[in-house]
Amino acid sequence: MANHTRQEMATQSGRESKAAKSGNRDGFSPEHVKNLSSVLNALLADYFALYLKTKNFHWHMSGPHFRDYHLLLDEQADQIFKITDDIAERVRKIGGETIRSIGHIARLQRIADNDYEFVPAHGMIEELQADNQALAHSLRSAHEVTSRCGDYATTSLIEVWIDEAERRSWFLFEATR
Ligand SMILES: [Fe+2]
Repeated sequence: MANHTRQEMATQSGRESKAAKSGNRDGFSPEHVKNLSSVLNALLADYFALYLKTKNFHWHMSGPHFRDYHLLLDEQADQIFKITDDIAERVRKIGGETIRSIGHIARLQRIADNDYEFVPAHGMIEELQADNQALAHSLRSAHEVTSRCGDYATTSLIEVWIDEAERRSWFLFEATR
């Protein structure tokens, strides 16, 4: 019991000194760190959700356009996955904390999973197109917060991520016309 208490105290004081150290890195106020972390972690959860859905559809694709769609979704999944590390590291660079688990992603994601056993090819493409459009919208909202907080590095990265989301959305839209 005594050991347990000492351990708890050590963890507690470790937490306090860590919090004190990470409080005001790069001049961001605790309020800004909180707001930036919140929008960035929600985006990160969306990117993981969209990554897995894009891979899910890449794996379960069928129909006459199998090869084209299968390859297109693989390209898009690679691009989406690469961004996850940039987002998480931006949160750490500004002094915040980021996602720790699949459960954490599930609590924050706004892009819905699709666990259906069968989804027709055009349904997959249309759903991903809508998801990428929704992601671009969330990125625009996040851009407002990062500019307001003076986080120029994240703001400029988000501008690139918006272009990429719009490009994915465009490819998916044109593929089904
Ligand atoms: Fe593959």
